[in-house]
Amino acid sequence: MAFDKNQFAEIIEEFKVDGTRLHEVAADFRYDLRKGLENPDESSLRMLKSYVGLPTGEETGEYLALDFGGTNVRVLRIRLDGHGKFEVLKKVAKPLRVEGVYDFVGEGSTAEQQFDFIAELVDEAIEGDHTTKYLLGHTFSFPSEQTDLYNAKLIIWTKEFATAGVEGKVVNDLLKEALHRQGIDNVEPTAVINDTVAVLLAAAYKQADTYIGSIYATGHNTCYFEPFKGKAERPMILNLESGGFMKLAPNRFDAEFDAQSEKPGEQRLEKMVSGRYMGELFGMAIAELLGEKGKKYGFTSIDMSNIILDETAGLTEVGRIVSAKTGHDLEEVDRQRLQELASALVVRSARLVTATYVGIIWQLAGDDAIKKQHIAIDGSVYEKMPLAKENIMRALSELLGESASLVDTVLENGGSGLGAAIAAAMSQKQA
Ligand code: BGC
Repeated sequence: MAFDKNQFAEIIEEFKVDGTRLHEVAADFRYDLRKGLENPDESSLRMLKSYVGLPTGEETGEYLALDFGGTNVRVLRIRLDGHGKFEVLKKVAKPLRVEGVYDFVGEGSTAEQQFDFIAELVDEAIEGDHTTKYLLGHTFSFPSEQTDLYNAKLIIWTKEFATAGVEGKVVNDLLKEALHRQGIDNVEPTAVINDTVAVLLAAAYKQADTYIGSIYATGHNTCYFEPFKGKAERPMILNLESGGFMKLAPNRFDAEFDAQSEKPGEQRLEKMVSGRYMGELFGMAIAELLGEKGKKYGFTSIDMSNIILDETAGLTEVGRIVSAKTGHDLEEVDRQRLQELASALVVRSARLVTATYVGIIWQLAGDDAIKKQHIAIDGSVYEKMPLAKENIMRALSELLGESASLVDTVLENGGSGLGAAIAAAMSQKQA
């Protein structure tokens, strides 16, 4: 069965973000940012305070870093040597869910089970040493309301997490209690930060002129350093929870996917751009093309990456992947179309994400010229997805014109761990 040419063209069109729309998204994002600074209730951005500023680069000492942001949880022992230098002394990692074995992220799991599992991992990282005192920085990559650097309450799970009894709780209290249950009283959690904040701290620890930190991976979000110029407010990093940005033009796939998701109506930008969701949207469009609307094939962003990268004659790799997932053998012309569809989804994602970065850059510049700066980004989509980086650069040029030469993006790999250690070090200064 061959795809309907017109139906395919129409679907591709749905995933396009033209130049006008790109400008609109950047301007709308800036508007929400400005509104959010005045009154967060009037903005689709949560603008969460982190109670941490930028590091000096001189932070030193040995710390524990907990990186809890996806199904893979990591605990690291890190020594900060100052001048942007550091060494990872120990790293342990475990998934919170192993299909058919255990599951600490699904609806059936509880906060105690989840944090007991994490406390065991902390124990591994300190090799059972229950005497040496450690400060622990916790990168917790979900929207949390903070009142200070320690006290962060989970507002709402994202990324399809559903563990009971964590929403509304102070996550470091849950961690502390779990550590105590296991006799680990020498580890003191002192800081909670979002992963975007961790990325910004890690990047700014190494180089100046970095004010924006972003995650472009399974989930998506961005933070920036707000100077609160002319205001009584202490300058600090704000976690925008930009994945919740709403002023978008979702197409019918976005709308349908949102309606079926764990949290309909939430995280609209994230559901259009991040790795967790792109594969699903891709699969929904394929189901329509195959006349099997509503069928789920389980495409992932890794499948999309392999599809885009296929350079074989006849696109045999595309054929193999699609046949394995859908049970259909496609003609070459349709394999090409699916390569085009995967590319269109990635290009849309990169353009929307870039528009949000530019919204922040415009807001930071105000009436002044745009400053030379780096945008620090971590995450598999940015790092590995073909077409992502080049389309970010292209969209930056489209939006910023000549000033685009002042802005570059840098990969801050593993920023979540390093950033948590830096936050722990910074928590001492605040105490
Ligand atoms: C969360 C953010 C996080 C992002 C990247 C989103 O789902 O709401 O807090 O920064 O994922 O991990």
